Amino acid sequence: MSGEMSSDGYGDGTRVVRSGSTPPIPGMPLHHGPVFAATFHLGDAEPGADGADVYARYDNPTLRDFEFSLGGLDGGRSLAFASGMAAMTAAFYSVVSTGQRLLIPADGYFTGRLLADAHLRRFGVQMASVATADVEQRLRAGDFPGARLILVETPSNPGLDVCDIAAVAELAHRQGALLAVDNTTATPLGQRPLALGADMVLASDTKALSGHSDLLMGHVSVRDDELLARIKGWRNHTGAVPGPFETWLAHRSIGTLDLRLARQAENAAALADLLAGAPQVTNVRWPWRTDDPSYPLASRQMLRPMGVVSASFPSADAVRRLLAGSELLTAATSFGGLHTTVDRRAQFGGDSVAEGFVRISCGCEDTIDLVRDVTSALRAVVGG
Ligand SMILES: Cc1ncc(COP(=O)(O)O)c(C=O)c1O
Repeated sequence: MSGEMSSDGYGDGTRVVRSGSTPPIPGMPLHHGPVFAATFHLGDAEPGADGADVYARYDNPTLRDFEFSLGGLDGGRSLAFASGMAAMTAAFYSVVSTGQRLLIPADGYFTGRLLADAHLRRFGVQMASVATADVEQRLRAGDFPGARLILVETPSNPGLDVCDIAAVAELAHRQGALLAVDNTTATPLGQRPLALGADMVLASDTKALSGHSDLLMGHVSVRDDELLARIKGWRNHTGAVPGPFETWLAHRSIGTLDLRLARQAENAAALADLLAGAPQVTNVRWPWRTDDPSYPLASRQMLRPMGVVSASFPSADAVRRLLAGSELLTAATSFGGLHTTVDRRAQFGGDSVAEGFVRISCGCEDTIDLVRDVTSALRAVVGG
């Protein structure tokens, strides 16, 4: 399932191990540690002379290494942020102005909608939303004239619907809009939106990219220099820059992304099959199951599968029984980490889903252990 060859001739495992690494120096670490500094010695030179660092909010060595790595993987130039929401905020505010229109996914990460509703609206930005599965057809029908920025999230979270990035990019550009793609679920190994015509990639690197459920991080990648400068200006002025320790941890974690995604996808394939065969579970979604509505597009557009599955249990109580009957499933929100987690989305109130709807983030446990554990937990659901 892994090992996609890229244009540089290396497979994913090699690319992430080497991603952003500096040439080896005898006696020095293979991966340099973080540089902890808010301010840098200026000496008697002009600030920033010869590219010297000045102040960590503008740039710093740990951030540069991480962004170089991200840019290589996304096929553009990247700017890291203190969280995925900080990255999304930067994308919105750097592009959309008062009186302009922003189109967002109706079924994407719900805090994106809260950000748009609670804040952008106050500044006179007009808002519209559309379901991921419908965005292409609605744009083709001319339903969102005057949109300045279109955000899609594919696969969408938590419903796992997919839209055609290349087709949406063409439609967006035809009407003078920019297209941003939230690539959190796919990661840069699973999907390269910039190569498909998107203007911006944004992501929560809190999820699979860093993958250990121990930090918050986000990034935006673009190809256009002017857009890059605008987003960097936003970050400089608002201060949404990540700290060096988180940045270093995230960079260090990229080296195992290929391995983690491969195991997560293997576990997702097995759990999706198991759940699809369980009478107490309905509407199992994993875009790489051949009978999933997202499969035709996902298998054409994405480079590899990911570890997130969604499914519906009859009630909140049935989910409680599943968790109580399992040793390996942990109740937690977020996704993409080492542990297999179950997130009953209705408890957060932001998504329009039934009480028993869950997003399951498959971790890196042995597939055989997970299948055995969930098989017996499913018996507890019936037993209750
Ligand atoms: C698809 C998606 N985008 C953005 C975000 C926001 O990221 P963060 O929590 O790192 O701010 C999330 C968080 O769950 C997400 O799932």
